[in-house]
Amino acid sequence: MSIRQLPDTLIDQIAAGEVVERPASVVKELVENALDAGAMRVDIDLEEGGTRLIRIRDDGEGIVAGELSIAVARHATSKIASLDDLESVATLGFRGEALPSIASVSRFSLASRRRGSEHGATLQVDGGRVGVVAPRAHPQGTTVEVRDLFYNVPARRKFLRAERTELGHVEEWLRSLALARPDVELRVSHNGKPARRYRGDTDLFSGERLVETLGEDFARNALRVERMLAQGGEGHGARLGLHGWIADPTYSRASADQQYLYVNGRAIRDRSVAHAVRQAYADVLFHGRQPAYVLFLDVDPLRVDVNVHPAKHEVRFRDARLIHDFVQRTLHDALAATRAGNGPLVAAVTTQAEVARSLALPGLPQQGLSLRIDEARAGYAALYADTAGRQMAGEAPMPPADASEAPPLGYALAQLHGIFILSEAAEGLVVVDMHAAHERIGYEKLKRAHDAGGLRTQPLLVPQPVAVSEREADVAEREAGTLAELGFEVGRAGPQSLLLRAVPALLAHGDIEALLRDVLADLREHGASRRVVGERDALLSTMACHGAVRANRRLTLPEMNALLREMEATERSGQCNHGRPTWTRVGLHEIDRWFMRGR
Ligand SMILES: Nc1ncnc2c1ncn2[C@@H]1O[C@H](COP(=O)(O)OP(=O)(O)OP(=O)(O)O)[C@@H](O)[C@H]1O
Ligand SMILES: [Mg+2]
Repeated sequence: MSIRQLPDTLIDQIAAGEVVERPASVVKELVENALDAGAMRVDIDLEEGGTRLIRIRDDGEGIVAGELSIAVARHATSKIASLDDLESVATLGFRGEALPSIASVSRFSLASRRRGSEHGATLQVDGGRVGVVAPRAHPQGTTVEVRDLFYNVPARRKFLRAERTELGHVEEWLRSLALARPDVELRVSHNGKPARRYRGDTDLFSGERLVETLGEDFARNALRVERMLAQGGEGHGARLGLHGWIADPTYSRASADQQYLYVNGRAIRDRSVAHAVRQAYADVLFHGRQPAYVLFLDVDPLRVDVNVHPAKHEVRFRDARLIHDFVQRTLHDALAATRAGNGPLVAAVTTQAEVARSLALPGLPQQGLSLRIDEARAGYAALYADTAGRQMAGEAPMPPADASEAPPLGYALAQLHGIFILSEAAEGLVVVDMHAAHERIGYEKLKRAHDAGGLRTQPLLVPQPVAVSEREADVAEREAGTLAELGFEVGRAGPQSLLLRAVPALLAHGDIEALLRDVLADLREHGASRRVVGERDALLSTMACHGAVRANRRLTLPEMNALLREMEATERSGQCNHGRPTWTRVGLHEIDRWFMRGR
């Protein structure tokens, strides 16, 4: 075949292959256009999962009659005019490709009236064949209709799935758009029936939109995160901010279905940021579970390239490493604040040391760097303040405590089956898994002690021989340094025996022989690469488990109360070392319900 220039319609259809995958991608492009046009309300009508009809109406700026034809022309956009504009683009669209692509694979119509203009107009495009502009009455704003998607591209049409499935994809995109723009009202109808409504004028940070999109359960377990790094003072130079919500580790998911990341308002996927989030959760998430989050990264537009993916699902950061570390550190700190008894909404904590650490982040010049950390003011009550009176499934905010000075986890009443501590708290009954809680407290103590230069050692009055395998004895000899850091002093007494001379002071009261064996087993498994923090943590976690109270140990009330107070003061004490919850609360309202007592 000789080389020839392709006809325009075919070029559009080829471009459509990248831009339009299914009804959901059409909805995404059209709603993004509406948002770029400043719409505050968008109506989305669908038929048959969007395969038969997608109609999007908005109350935005509108398009003048004279520009309707150019709007559906390839490479025509009002959003950028130069490469400079592209480098600092603030709109969701910038390619001038969405409308011509969609119009080339559907029966398409565009109707609009520009703000301030007297008359509306409309234009049809049928499988890429552009009709003529005709007058039509239309309120200010724009309506786009897309019928029979892929009717002229059978190969594509074959890939469309069942109505339910396509509708599900549309809803997922809308959820993602709705999270980014809580100020905009979105109404969805399907097959003529109202299907979904996101109220406008909600404020994401009051938690309302969060409840609308991800449900009460997420909102109830969400931790508010907000941090900003500004270089050279506010409003000048490079800025880097992160805000949003991350779910408490005990609210984890089996799949990665609640992970929303936005860069400058645009929903994207990013492997490096996802990795940073996973690392931040590494120490608190139950094995194999996925964290849930809604995170907004604000990056200087000049330092991020949005033009790297055909459907704009990815971006490229200039300072990828810096952003990775910033996200990881911020979430790590926020998660450290998940102390038992804290309301679910806590801010990333800030200490002097933390500021100093942030200053040492690689990639940002340290000179003239000013750090501003916004402590979120939102509290548990604040989340529900706006929704109060709507009675969230019977779990209204707890009434203020009568004794408001009572500690969050209350005062111990009794021990149940040697496993749980029952405690009377202002809002009702608190149940604590004694071993799980104690284990976390021990673990955090060990980590702190280790960070402060190694675990304190307690010499044994009489050195204790420990029988081990020959390999274990070898490991003990080879790893004498690591063991010393962990607080053990061990010598070799024979081919299969060690002599234990000193043990970690924090754990001196437990079964130290079993402890040493477990540590040796861990060391054997992880080898000598102890510079890796995760492995150090695994060792300390093993040790903490040994130190923790066993089931069936009788505790006195003062001992129980001491444990509760320690939980309140310990970072991450809401979850045990394996990510399981350490405590739960049964509200008085719920107990009332058990007995059908109205209040
Ligand atoms: N709902 C709308 N309201 C007002 N103007 C619109 C609307 N939809 C499209 N337009 C105009 O039509 C132009 C072309 O839209 P199109 O979506 O094809 O390109 P784009 O948004 O500029 O870039 P991209 O291809 O990245 O989406 C836009 O630049 C805008 O001027
Ligand atoms: Mg667009």
